[in-house]
Amino acid sequence: MDGNGRWATARGLERAQGHKAGAQTFRAISTYCAKLGIESVTFYAFSTENWKRPENEVNALMKLFRDFLEEAQEREKENEEIGFHIKFAGDTANMPEELVNLFEICEKRSADKTGTTVNIAVNYGGRAEITNAARRIAEKVKNGEMTVDDIDEDTISSMLYTAGQPDPDLIIRPGGESRISNFLIWQSAYSEFYFTDILWPDFTEDDLDRAIIDFCSRNRRFGAV
Ligand code: FPP
Repeated sequence: MDGNGRWATARGLERAQGHKAGAQTFRAISTYCAKLGIESVTFYAFSTENWKRPENEVNALMKLFRDFLEEAQEREKENEEIGFHIKFAGDTANMPEELVNLFEICEKRSADKTGTTVNIAVNYGGRAEITNAARRIAEKVKNGEMTVDDIDEDTISSMLYTAGQPDPDLIIRPGGESRISNFLIWQSAYSEFYFTDILWPDFTEDDLDRAIIDFCSRNRRFGAV
């Protein structure tokens, strides 16, 4: 969800205001994904590298995540349809405990939702995710729960934060940069990429439609001819 800072600066606003606008877009687009019947979608909300940002910006982002999860809980209590299954993707270490608990509650409460799974990647890094998977596999071998010969690509996929979900067909990066920035690096081996200059707060349902239509024109060969 790139471009929030530039969106705010262009309007003479604080960067945190850009993230707030970005959170509105997140709500709109995640709801639209559910409406379209997309099986699984992952939003890159905070990377393992984003801790390097100024403290007030990090705090503003943590507050946005908390507000979203609290609101989702409230809506559910009032029996309003959230419409999707919320999942946390990332390393819970170094995260505010209150936020980790909120994610757990929301994951559990929305676990029986049959529609779209919305993964929120917070404190997420693709390399850290693979390293964590390698550690967990090594631990299982050490404990005699599996042998080295048992390890295949499915074993690694099953140890990632996105275990049990399909690999992404399409990865969209708004904000004008053409790089992957440590996002889903294992899962994206055969993903199609769509880069757009639109800054995330300006991203609309029509922009998602355009990306999907573009994706439909791609010829995916998965290494075959
Ligand atoms: C990158 O843009 C964006 C982020 C680091 C934060 C994204 C988070 C949100 C939009 C909040 C989402 C809320 C929920 C509830 C999931 P940038 O700040 O690097 O933009 P810039 O490149 O223009 O500076």
